[in-house]
Amino acid sequence: MDYTDQKILVTGAAGFIGSHTAEALARAGARVVGLDNYDSFYAREIKERNSAEVREALGGHAERVRYIENDLTDAPAMQSLFERERFTGVVHLAARAGVRPSIEQPALYARVNMNGSTILLEAARSTGVQRFVQASSSSVYGNNEKVPFSESDDVNEPISPYAATKRAVELIAHTYWHLYKMPVASLRFFTVFGPRQRPDLAISKFIRLISAGQRIPMFGDGSSSRDYTYIEDIVAGVLAAYERIEQHGCRIWNLGGSDPVTLREMIATIERVVGRKANIDQLPMQAGDVERTFADTSRSAQELDYKVTTTFEEGVRKQWEWVQRVEDVAVG
Ligand SMILES: NC(=O)c1ccc[n+]([C@@H]2O[C@H](COP(=O)([O-])OP(=O)(O)OC[C@H]3O[C@@H](n4cnc5c(N)ncnc54)[C@H](O)[C@@H]3O)[C@@H](O)[C@H]2O)c1
Repeated sequence: MDYTDQKILVTGAAGFIGSHTAEALARAGARVVGLDNYDSFYAREIKERNSAEVREALGGHAERVRYIENDLTDAPAMQSLFERERFTGVVHLAARAGVRPSIEQPALYARVNMNGSTILLEAARSTGVQRFVQASSSSVYGNNEKVPFSESDDVNEPISPYAATKRAVELIAHTYWHLYKMPVASLRFFTVFGPRQRPDLAISKFIRLISAGQRIPMFGDGSSSRDYTYIEDIVAGVLAAYERIEQHGCRIWNLGGSDPVTLREMIATIERVVGRKANIDQLPMQAGDVERTFADTSRSAQELDYKVTTTFEEGVRKQWEWVQRVEDVAVG
């Protein structure tokens, strides 16, 4: 696809996946407007560092990404942004993320994830946006028994407010295709990791704690598993979905690693990579956490040419190298 005629709104552009996606789209030649409200879920300084890394990585092309600080739940502000900028496409990655905190603040999660996404879809539709890609999550599969999880499986039993909001945005997306023929892709990301990973996520936390010789909490007996997906593979999937969604109309794709890793194996990998033994505090499983995730990626392989290129251990190594590079300025 020729990106040079694309003007793309990336929401959540200062966050983990958003910063990598904005960088990749700009590298491909697109003009990117990066929207973020520097939500308090984690430190603003980390998000500013993400954006600084993007600018540095883009070098002479840094002006291709323009940042706007605003809240996507502000409908009049979004409407005027869309009218002013006339985006050709939207990659919507902003959200209140995280399963456990959604149990504490369900109404906040519903407002940002459900209302916010609907506000964006409506602004996109009313200004003739040609393609809309949004983040969903593997959490929509809940505790489904059948693995691997396929896009055609039933997803009517979410076990956290976060998961329910992600399923809801998939459903509202369908109405925008049905009513207005605006192509919308929903991408079910399976636990994403790599440089700039959110500080609340286990790999990021464990790398910091184990390397500092501090104790780590392990929820459950260590047999729960996650289908970790390296950030570069996710970004390749996001761009492929952006390029191909017009042929599909409304489509859901899994983007996963297809090789689940148990919590025990995850900890052992980090121990090997950072060269220190973990001191583990075993605690009960947490409410809202699913037992396992495991992606069937045959649909995305076939329709997006999606493939996994980075193994779990290689990815953890790259994340650790990044942590060491930025640790002088590490915050949070
Ligand atoms: N990281 C994962 O493993 C994972 C897995 C499944 C799905 N997802 C989804 O992928 C997307 C990106 O996740 P991430 O890990 O990069 O999270 P992140 O928290 O690093 O990024 C989200 C960004 O959205 C911004 N934001 C939040 N509320 C906003 C609002 N009201 N207005 C404008 N900006 C707002 C935040 O400030 C943040 O920078 C989210 O939709 C998340 O639900 C992530």
